[in-house]
Amino acid sequence: MSGNPYQDDRGNKDASIVNPKGSGTLVSATGTGHEMHTQEAFLIGDSMTGGYGKSGPDILHDCTIAVDKGEIAVIVGPNGAGKSTGMKAVFGMLNLRQGSVRLGGEDITDLSPQARVRKGMGFVPQTHNIFTSMTVEENLEMGGFIREDDIQDTIEQVYELFPILRDKRNQPAGELSGGQRQQVAVGRALMTKPTVLMLDEPTAGVSPIVMDELFDRIIEVARTGISILMVEQNARQALEIADKGYVLVQGSNAHTGSGKDLLADPEVRQSFLGG
Ligand SMILES: Nc1ncnc2c1ncn2[C@@H]1O[C@H](COP(=O)(O)OP(=O)(O)O)[C@@H](O)[C@H]1O
Ligand SMILES: [Mg+2]
Repeated sequence: MSGNPYQDDRGNKDASIVNPKGSGTLVSATGTGHEMHTQEAFLIGDSMTGGYGKSGPDILHDCTIAVDKGEIAVIVGPNGAGKSTGMKAVFGMLNLRQGSVRLGGEDITDLSPQARVRKGMGFVPQTHNIFTSMTVEENLEMGGFIREDDIQDTIEQVYELFPILRDKRNQPAGELSGGQRQQVAVGRALMTKPTVLMLDEPTAGVSPIVMDELFDRIIEVARTGISILMVEQNARQALEIADKGYVLVQGSNAHTGSGKDLLADPEVRQSFLGG
């Protein structure tokens, strides 16, 4: 449509090689530098400071969370630490006073959540993440509302990932079990074919068996190349499947490392994993 070929060039290629904060903590240690975009995490909420409303107190303090392409990043920490707030900030539901959010090297700090969905972000909030009075299939259709192409293939993929949803496709989602409702919520978010999926406590209130099952499905999603950024209260189990882990305390980064490193860190174990 555009007469200017440069306008069709997606993303700000230069931004990916510049870290305005100069913190350098998110530069991949294994990056060879031959591709500029490998130097920075695929999605990064970088040094975020902000709170709710125009004048509410800051909840996040210089907080950074990020995820690499096709990897699983997990955010853990005590209740009220600001995990959900951090997720909302990355998704554009909070006005940041400082810091930025970048996706694929492009600064998306000023984009609305809707615009971020169009850029490839999917978000499953901690609460109210399904339409309970609609059927399972209607929930999936609602998830695909921004798409103008045929969504049937994606519905089919969701049913392959979560077979129980196919069986219950015509039931109101509110009649499903907790674990099944979370599957609906994840499936709903997958309907836009996101490149990064953000999950806020996807296993809240489900049994350990259902939790394991959900984690397996999340790993399966990650293996298709979708980045996963998730908050989990089942810290130990979540860190076991995490490529990267963030421990947040009072809106700040307390510990950051590979899932494995955090699980082995005596202080993290003592304070956050029950010894
Ligand atoms: N919508 C909101 N408006 C104002 N304050 C909020 C809102 N949501 C959360 N908070 C506050 O932000 C802080 C962090 O909450 P939250 O991000 O939900 O923590 P977590 O997800 O780690 O349990 C808490 O002090 C909470 O009271
Ligand atoms: Mg929360």
